[in-house]
Amino acid sequence: MLDILPDRYTALITGASSGIGYALLNQLLSSSRAGRIITVTRQPFAIDDERVISLTLDATTDEGRSALNQQLAGQPVHLFFNAIGLLHDDARKLHPEKRLDQLNADSLQAIMHVNAFTPALLIASLMDSFKVLIAV
Ligand SMILES: NC(=O)c1ccc[n+]([C@@H]2O[C@H](COP(=O)([O-])OP(=O)(O)OC[C@H]3O[C@@H](n4cnc5c(N)ncnc54)[C@H](OP(=O)(O)O)[C@@H]3O)[C@@H](O)[C@H]2O)c1
Repeated sequence: MLDILPDRYTALITGASSGIGYALLNQLLSSSRAGRIITVTRQPFAIDDERVISLTLDATTDEGRSALNQQLAGQPVHLFFNAIGLLHDDARKLHPEKRLDQLNADSLQAIMHVNAFTPALLIASLMDSFKVLIAV
């Protein structure tokens, strides 16, 4: 995957604070080819590497995506990796359903919002940062 990226590429990782997003961040940082890595997390997130720019916002909301868009200001993003995902959330009583009679509209909506709608809306909101790459 990294072979097709230009040297000193810019990467954007949403959901970078844990799991797959955090693992990818460390993988990218292990190479000298990364120029800048923008992380998006809901809580402040610090990592000791000058190539990392940490943005604190919730990319699952219109406000968060708008803030992200403003921060990027159309600068090129060569690699976008959305690691935001929701399987369970005890606080919101969201758990993977094992039977049809456990389905309910609120839970499905919350899961679909984070896992399905957010990636599509994020890509749409980042088009300015992708278009500049298509144009060159
Ligand atoms: N790890 C695996 O082996 C595996 C295997 C198959 C599928 N998956 C799926 O892949 C996805 C990512 O897995 P993971 O292990 O990296 O999960 P994770 O450690 O729970 O991380 C998911 C990220 O999603 C963000 N997030 C979670 N709930 C959110 C919410 N309600 N609103 C906004 N952001 C939210 C968090 O972002 P912040 O950084 O902002 O907190 C977090 O960094 C999940 O959907 C998981 O079910 C994982």
